[in-house]
Amino acid sequence: MNAVGHDPTITVQRAWQLASDVEQALSVDDLLSRSDFVSFHVPLTDETRHMINDQRVRLMRKGAVLLNFSRDGIIDDKAVVAALDAGHLYAYVCDFPSNLLKDHPRCITLPHLGASTREAEENCAVMVADQVREWLENGNVTNAVNFPEIFLPRNGGHRVAVVNSNVPNMVGQISTDLGAAGININDMLNRSRGDIAVTLLDLDKEPSKDVVAQLSSIAGVLSVRCLGCTKDQ
Ligand SMILES: NC(=O)c1ccc[n+]([C@@H]2O[C@H](COP(=O)([O-])OP(=O)(O)OC[C@H]3O[C@@H](n4cnc5c(N)ncnc54)[C@H](O)[C@@H]3O)[C@@H](O)[C@H]2O)c1
Repeated sequence: MNAVGHDPTITVQRAWQLASDVEQALSVDDLLSRSDFVSFHVPLTDETRHMINDQRVRLMRKGAVLLNFSRDGIIDDKAVVAALDAGHLYAYVCDFPSNLLKDHPRCITLPHLGASTREAEENCAVMVADQVREWLENGNVTNAVNFPEIFLPRNGGHRVAVVNSNVPNMVGQISTDLGAAGININDMLNRSRGDIAVTLLDLDKEPSKDVVAQLSSIAGVLSVRCLGCTKDQ
């Protein structure tokens, strides 16, 4: 199988995870005109709702098969059934059963369990363990529902992870206290989401217990962790 994909906001990190022979389609229309099997893996948003509609179905190859295991609403089922009845599409497979689809001879509808394969369960478990480990060891946050995404690679130094309220002058106060303790910041990243911000700092010296206590006492600082520090924190 030759794989062709389209993702308008793909990250560099995601792109590195793809096999090198996956081809890039420049648009959804481009992808549809080049594919015999089209599978959707997108969230349901205003941009993705009815991504397959009457117009788009006509761009698909004759005899193509459509698969949707992402969200109900991404495919306009009426448009697809019309294309199946007209003999333009060969089959539609999804995990969103409906009265329109359930008895159609060219539709296969499954319960909404697309992600519940043995492989997906195992991948989820590994992903969760990796993400919790990143948070505990490096302060990095991925896929949290209530924290900002943040990723600062470790390039030496002593990592301090601060969780603080998303209000002005937090980073200023943290760096002032570190400067007063004679500690230099080698690298720093601050990300916020709603009321919460996370600040990751790589320091040239390990902060003492007193410096960590000083940072913790700043109004608005919710937690301070010195990661991998050897001094008794
Ligand atoms: N069937 C199930 O049991 C089941 C289970 C879990 C999730 N889902 C659904 O599957 C979807 C995909 O899951 P995932 O783990 O691959 O999610 P993901 O967040 O890893 O990937 C979604 C991708 O969609 C891309 N995207 C967003 N808007 C787009 C657009 N307008 N055009 C093209 N690409 C766009 C994003 O850049 C991202 O790479 C989820 O959003 C969820 O709706 C279904």
